[in-house]
Amino acid sequence: AITVDPSAKGAAIDDTMYGVFFEDINRAADGGLYAELVQNRSFEYSTADNGSYTPLTSWAVGGTAEVVNDSGRLNARNRNYLSLGAGSSVTNAGYNTGIRVDKGKRYDFSVWARAESGSTLTVSLKDTAGTLGTARQVAVKGGWAKYKATFTATRTSNRGRLAVAARNAAALDEVSLFPRDTYKNQPNGLRKDLAEKIAALKPGFVRFPGGCLVNTGSMEDYSEASNWQRKRSYQWKDTIGPVEERATNANFWGYNQSYGLGYYEYFRLSGDIGAMPLPVVPALVTGCGQNKATDDDALLKRHIQDTLDLIEFANGPATSTWGKARAKMGHPKPFHLTHIGVGNEENLPKEFFARFQQFRAAIEAKYPDITVISNSGPDDAGTTFDTAWQLNREGNVDMVDEHYYNSPNWFLQNNDRYDSYDRKGPKVFLGEYASQGNAWKNGLSEAAFMTGLERNADIVKLASYAPLLANEDYVQWRPDMVWFNNRASWNSANYEVQKLFMTNVGDRVVPSKATTTPNVSGPITGAVGLSTWATSAAYDDVKVTSADGSTLLSDDFSGDASKWTSSGRGSWSVQDGQYVQTDTATENTMVTAGDRAWKDYDLHVKATKKSGK
Ligand code: AHR
Repeated sequence: AITVDPSAKGAAIDDTMYGVFFEDINRAADGGLYAELVQNRSFEYSTADNGSYTPLTSWAVGGTAEVVNDSGRLNARNRNYLSLGAGSSVTNAGYNTGIRVDKGKRYDFSVWARAESGSTLTVSLKDTAGTLGTARQVAVKGGWAKYKATFTATRTSNRGRLAVAARNAAALDEVSLFPRDTYKNQPNGLRKDLAEKIAALKPGFVRFPGGCLVNTGSMEDYSEASNWQRKRSYQWKDTIGPVEERATNANFWGYNQSYGLGYYEYFRLSGDIGAMPLPVVPALVTGCGQNKATDDDALLKRHIQDTLDLIEFANGPATSTWGKARAKMGHPKPFHLTHIGVGNEENLPKEFFARFQQFRAAIEAKYPDITVISNSGPDDAGTTFDTAWQLNREGNVDMVDEHYYNSPNWFLQNNDRYDSYDRKGPKVFLGEYASQGNAWKNGLSEAAFMTGLERNADIVKLASYAPLLANEDYVQWRPDMVWFNNRASWNSANYEVQKLFMTNVGDRVVPSKATTTPNVSGPITGAVGLSTWATSAAYDDVKVTSADGSTLLSDDFSGDASKWTSSGRGSWSVQDGQYVQTDTATENTMVTAGDRAWKDYDLHVKATKKSGK
């Protein structure tokens, strides 16, 4: 029985409680949310990013073309450019299977080019079946200048290529192709389907830009030319201003990041979806397995000043130095920053906390209303985590960022995790969590766990599933909430759980108690994934039907896949212990195939609970 006392007052739940954590991992930014269709647009890919890269990665050359790094460059922060010979061409392959274009839609091409004695560029969009839009001629003359052209796609294709051919020799840089149709039609904007999936969650906050990519690598900045190809910690000043002046960087996750999706765009996205922006800055103690803390006081001070400048960039008047930079980019009004995270998963709690205190003191002295969020390091269920928490408690920290990834069972068993947290201590920002998988049972275990977060909403103030996005052809981390390729995106069961909670945030918890195991009996119908059912022998007469009512599957639920019968639409198999159906018409796998769960299907399950269980 469930006892509910409507007169008892449980914790108040903040509107901002559930948010999203965006990290540029799994090509979540370039090749993902950032709508740019050209890969390696400024010829900066290098072996420092990834051993398999060259400055011509994703480009094919016809004739003569050479990537050059000399004083003839576009600007000091964009080292390489392409020297294209007379009568030669280069062709970009985009991401995944190629550049995706939709018939009738417009695509904006731009390039920085230099041709002292004049040249004509022929720009074309095509795939192996032929042209995808009328080719454009661009006359180039003199020093570096930006040139533009627009295409209207005459066919839909997932395998598009962008080719640029030069009549006479020319230098090229920052070759770009953007869909006109971006989220909220913003320039330098975001891929619509992905941004819409994020917006549909109605996130209370957006944590960005990571994750491990925040504070690993060299702590130096770009200003030293010798640092240009080194993996530098993520520094927000590298990511604003004109895109051709954003010095690309080696991403922690093994690829190059253009920073086309940078701090301005993160703040803009947060505003566009009504979420609180929550940036995380490096603390100068590297986490994520690289245990290094800087002893360079001047460097530490510079990073602290950068953090103060960031707050001014977000909130300062358009007349202030950094407020002016924001206004120049198109947003004179402030972005309303109220919370900032310092550091991510540092494994050296004492070294981290000493530096955190310096950040906090400087921020609070200038911006007393900003909440400065500390870190607990990864939850290793041991001394690092405990030491970090002890330091945070003793140091009267406002809020601590916790991270953990565990099995579904762990999530079921730890529903009471926060019941015993010290109410006088720091509040919790659960900045990263996920059960290990994208199947129905994972979503279900997270839902069960989230009831515990919500019951403790007086102490757990913010929570975000992690990571958010994954391009299926460039995966460094799984599970992820939303999956995509160059032509489609699809939600996981975990996404549906987040959405359920995020779009139904209550005002207050009504305390309740369950005294027996809930007894499920009779037919159960719903649009659900199947793994929970498949791992349970508790159900009889299972029938799975599609939206049109045709039977896809029926079984007595003995747990043996070979006994399952399916309709003519596909074949069933067991992969990684989960039931997977491959649809013969589309070749999509469906139901509980990990990453692809829930894609495009509306399934209905009907089952009867076995008696006596
Ligand atoms: O979410 C993926 C990674 O997990 C994050 O980068 C890191 O903070 C954690 O270890």
